[in-house]
Amino acid sequence: MTPAGSLLAAHDLRKTYGSTPALDGASFSVHPGEVVAVMGPSGSGKSTLLHCLAGIITPDSGTITYDGRELSAMSDAERSALRRSVFGFVFQFGQLVPELTCVENVALPLRLNGTRRKDAERTARTWMERLEVEDIGSKRPGEVSGGQGQRVAVARALAGSPKVIFADEPTGALDSLNGERVMQLLTEAARSANVAVVLVTHEARVAAYSDRDVTVRDGRARDLEHAA
Ligand SMILES: Nc1ncnc2c1ncn2[C@@H]1O[C@H](COP(=O)(O)OP(=O)(O)OP(=O)(O)O)[C@@H](O)[C@H]1O
Ligand SMILES: [Mg+2]
Repeated sequence: MTPAGSLLAAHDLRKTYGSTPALDGASFSVHPGEVVAVMGPSGSGKSTLLHCLAGIITPDSGTITYDGRELSAMSDAERSALRRSVFGFVFQFGQLVPELTCVENVALPLRLNGTRRKDAERTARTWMERLEVEDIGSKRPGEVSGGQGQRVAVARALAGSPKVIFADEPTGALDSLNGERVMQLLTEAARSANVAVVLVTHEARVAAYSDRDVTVRDGRARDLEHAA
């Protein structure tokens, strides 16, 4: 069921909201260090698939395995611990904590894992340099541009040394130039750290940065790895 060598795999996921089927037999997998673009029309189930894979919502049926362990067999506490320790997240907007400075935002996953402030902020600054936003460390998210904010969000997702980054329309609120730069920096940094990326997008130019594309239509993911 799980494609050989995959890090995170979903098989035959189903999820219904009331009478609306959001996922209707979706299968998916990603390998370590691989960037997969999840594409498809609005309402097709992309975000629902991503939220299931990340353990944020529970599918009605189907299985999800991370590194050979089934998410549904874990307790809520184990799933939260997994999310904190091996998953990173980048969303379209609103994910930065407005009261914290940019460097404090990037350091947050490390602080939550018990890293001391000084060490967490040193690591945070290293990632901010990689994402070319080291000069805005002491600003708050409300004082930076959209593109800078997304690069801070990417730095934060990477700072906790995740194995998988989930990105839902990470460039959706940016102009094309800024969007391309964010994608370039995100995929370069992820590949060099061997981090897998599950990237939801409906923009072909964003998908151009992926290793592989998966199309979701009517709640079904068409993943060539799963083509029977
Ligand atoms: N919390 C929810 N409550 C009820 N229905 C939902 C909920 N979330 C999603 N849906 C429905 O499930 C279906 C899939 O939604 P989903 O958000 O996964 O689509 P999407 O592919 O991410 O779309 P978009 O490109 O617009 O973000 C849609 O019909 C949507 O209306
Ligand atoms: Mg969506």
